Amino acid sequence: MDIFGSSESAKVLVVDDHPFSRVMAVDLLTANDYDVIEHDGVSDVFTVVRKVAPDLILMDIKMPNCNGFDICQKLKQDTETRAIPVILMSVADDNQSRLKSQEVAADAFMSKPLESMVILPEVELLIQRKRLYEWLEQIQQVLFLISQAIEKRYSPEGKSGMRFDKFAQGFGNYLNLNPVEINDLILASHLHDIGTVAIPDAVMMKQGKLDAEERELIKQHVLIGEEICKPMQNRRGIAQIIRHHHERWDGSGYPDGLIGESIPKLAQIFQILDIYEALTSQRPYKQPFTPQEALKILTEEAEKGWRNVKLVQQFVAFIEEKELA
Ligand SMILES: [Fe+2]
Repeated sequence: MDIFGSSESAKVLVVDDHPFSRVMAVDLLTANDYDVIEHDGVSDVFTVVRKVAPDLILMDIKMPNCNGFDICQKLKQDTETRAIPVILMSVADDNQSRLKSQEVAADAFMSKPLESMVILPEVELLIQRKRLYEWLEQIQQVLFLISQAIEKRYSPEGKSGMRFDKFAQGFGNYLNLNPVEINDLILASHLHDIGTVAIPDAVMMKQGKLDAEERELIKQHVLIGEEICKPMQNRRGIAQIIRHHHERWDGSGYPDGLIGESIPKLAQIFQILDIYEALTSQRPYKQPFTPQEALKILTEEAEKGWRNVKLVQQFVAFIEEKELA
């Protein structure tokens, strides 16, 4: 059993049209307890990859029916297969092939004949890296499910994550955000109110008006949420969005009363997406606002001084151009 709890042998798919070098690779890997699947590259490699779901692919670059570079590039562009490490191999160990394999996002390049001292540590490292990535994804899923369960207690109707993701992707591209920033927005949509877990139910579920003390207690959810998500060291943008998603452009928000551009940009964008998604969604207690009505409300909020006027104008233009055209 490895450190990520997997007791199964890792599956390696060897794709090579040349029977001799294929057998060499298969023997080497089988002798080291890998579960090896051979493919000669004649039938469609993608179908085999989907069926086998390997932990690693070892692939020749030149085959009569296909080209390892092209296959690698397509695998790395597909969300379903991009996490599978690919090692490209060739008899020609030239700089051009090495550079090309980097361009197509291959994880490593090896020259043939394969040497066990070189290939085995690389295979092991890449498989462990894939398992670590899968493990982190599972932890992230658990965190989302906890967050969703907390949210459902206070609003059983839930909200449409898929619609938020679509708007975040579209508006993020419109603003030329990088993929990490867009992903931070999407992840924050699942986690931004996770801090409510520490607020007493008597306050969270209170019918009627909250007193000043209760309002202060609710405001704490942004600080608690930031604290919960702080260990996500490589995704600091998410903790920033969580802390600042209730700030207002004129400084009347919380927790820090930040003014204007001192509010982190992603938090400003997040608020607009979150408000628009909420306004245009169906809820048991309300009909959805039309996109035009929702944009009018956002514009009024900007005029009141609560939101960044320029950003709201960009959002209005984005919805009118991309969603309503
Ligand atoms: Fe909140």
